[in-house]
Amino acid sequence: MAMVNLKINGQKVSAPAGSTILEASRSTSIDIPTLCDHPALTPIGACRMCLVEVKGQRGLQPACTFPVAEGMDVQTESPRVKDARKFVLELLFSERNHYCMYCEMTGDCELQSLGYRYGIDHWVYPTYTKRFPVDATRKYFMMDHNRCILCRRCIRGCSELAANHTLGMQQRGAESMIHADMNVPFGESSCISCGTCLQVCPTGALVDKRSAFMGRDVETEHIKSVCSQCSVGCGMDIVTRAGNVLRVEGDWDAPVNGGVICQAGRFDPLYEERQRITRPMVRRNGKLSETDWDAALEAAAKRISSAGKELGVLTSTRATNEALYLAAKLFGQELKSPNVGLLNGVAPKLSGEDASLADISSSDLILLVGADPVSDQPVASFFVKRAIDKGARLIVVDGEDNGLSPLASMHLQMADIEKAIEVAERADSPAVVYGAGVTPKAAQALRELVNKAHFVALQPGVNTQAAVAFGLNNGFDVSAAKTLFVLAGEEDWDGDGVLDKLRKDAFVVAQASYQSPVTERADLVLPMAIWSERAGTLTNTMGLVQKASAAVEPKRQARPDWEILSLLADKMGTSLGGSFERISALAAEQLK
Ligand code: SF4
Ligand code: SF4
Ligand code: SF4
Ligand code: FES
Repeated sequence: MAMVNLKINGQKVSAPAGSTILEASRSTSIDIPTLCDHPALTPIGACRMCLVEVKGQRGLQPACTFPVAEGMDVQTESPRVKDARKFVLELLFSERNHYCMYCEMTGDCELQSLGYRYGIDHWVYPTYTKRFPVDATRKYFMMDHNRCILCRRCIRGCSELAANHTLGMQQRGAESMIHADMNVPFGESSCISCGTCLQVCPTGALVDKRSAFMGRDVETEHIKSVCSQCSVGCGMDIVTRAGNVLRVEGDWDAPVNGGVICQAGRFDPLYEERQRITRPMVRRNGKLSETDWDAALEAAAKRISSAGKELGVLTSTRATNEALYLAAKLFGQELKSPNVGLLNGVAPKLSGEDASLADISSSDLILLVGADPVSDQPVASFFVKRAIDKGARLIVVDGEDNGLSPLASMHLQMADIEKAIEVAERADSPAVVYGAGVTPKAAQALRELVNKAHFVALQPGVNTQAAVAFGLNNGFDVSAAKTLFVLAGEEDWDGDGVLDKLRKDAFVVAQASYQSPVTERADLVLPMAIWSERAGTLTNTMGLVQKASAAVEPKRQARPDWEILSLLADKMGTSLGGSFERISALAAEQLK
């Protein structure tokens, strides 16, 4: 990469040719203030907060859009620069309602911080007192146009990152307003509630309803973790205060998603309405009643040990690598139960190495086969839509309705896979994005493209790659199970096709976080911690092993997934690996 040499505030800096003064300054300790700029978005030079002095240039220049050049001499803190920034702030504070005292974002607002930095202690200009509307029609967040500084970060976040194009700008000058879909209420718009706009907004204009007024940033903790709602494995920050989860944000540094998450990762887990299970329970006289951990584990161990070949095991792929490793070891290796299966299907392996989501967005043709990422792996669908925005064509091959069909140039049935392959062979950089809906015949045909295309498997479930690697997908036969162990965890599984075929006298042990038809049928229920309460590792659909952290304590007597299996094994007289760290290392070793 060609580099250019310049000076910023007298300091020698080397930066890649084509980068901006702002990017060059970020590689040093020199801090240039910004408002409309965001590292994940295309710079537009709208707010003029980042003005700097460039020797030889008549006017001040915006550092976020001005490219570096060999020998350039930049001053970022000269009196002229400081005066100009203060003037920009004076204008911004005189427009709309920036009475910070009454704003949810006070203490976390980029505009307010800059006000302090540049000594804005009074209004210099008459304030513009028109009242703008507040749109609270969206379930998860609201838009207060009175706090908006028209930086357009939300518009760019929606278009460039979520590739959803819901937001735009209406009117002109001081009357300008962000609008959704040519000015409909947010709640009636095409918005998919990914919350990207919310996450990039620098002020209190876009506000998360659930965490509003629950604590300023200095009072919260940010815990890096991994989403366990689907197999993409997006990196996220869990924001907590006093032992409660306030909200979830995308982790800008995460290798898989680069900061973007979806409704299922950001909002849904915090709006969970199912009844938690927080104490061990045993069925007595036909009714589940509370017991203690020791008695519950003793009873479970006794039934499972004596089940022999009549043991059946079903596992949710929402469990961590550690829990899946222990389940495979206990039920597969120690008890030699052949009757072990998963609660979700599995996509076949079509190529040696899986490509990344970034490879999808740089493709010129995408074959989407037997997968519906809009509903099942939403962030993967953002990457497909980003590629379409850049000119890629999409061919959907699916027997079902597909969320991406409206953007496809062709929608074919699975039997017509050869037609799709012909088109892919003529493309420069095709990608095959496929799921468990791919038929064996179509899978065989797609292998013709192995040396030509990027292959991205979108596994159903969450930690499906690891569950398959540990051998937990053996094929499950409900009719052979007289004792059934279900690691249901957080799965929203209604038992369809299993519970109705289960023998009436079968004994069911459910390790579960929420009440469900499975726990209603169970004879023993072991309460399991949820995503925010347990640490562990997760293997995403591309085989990347990532660390998920516990952000809060398990509720009441609930315990992490792996710990319950470890304690159960202890009760059965089988030690499965000892400490969490050791189990984690053993699981990682097996996943290599
Ligand atoms: S939540 Fe997502 S889809 Fe909705 S407006 Fe914001 S960025 Fe766009
Ligand atoms: S809503 Fe927020 S991100 Fe959007 S233009 Fe207004 S201040 Fe900027
Ligand atoms: S795409 Fe999947 S992993 Fe990513 S935030 Fe959404 S549900 Fe979570
Ligand atoms: S940050 Fe550069 S113009 Fe807004």
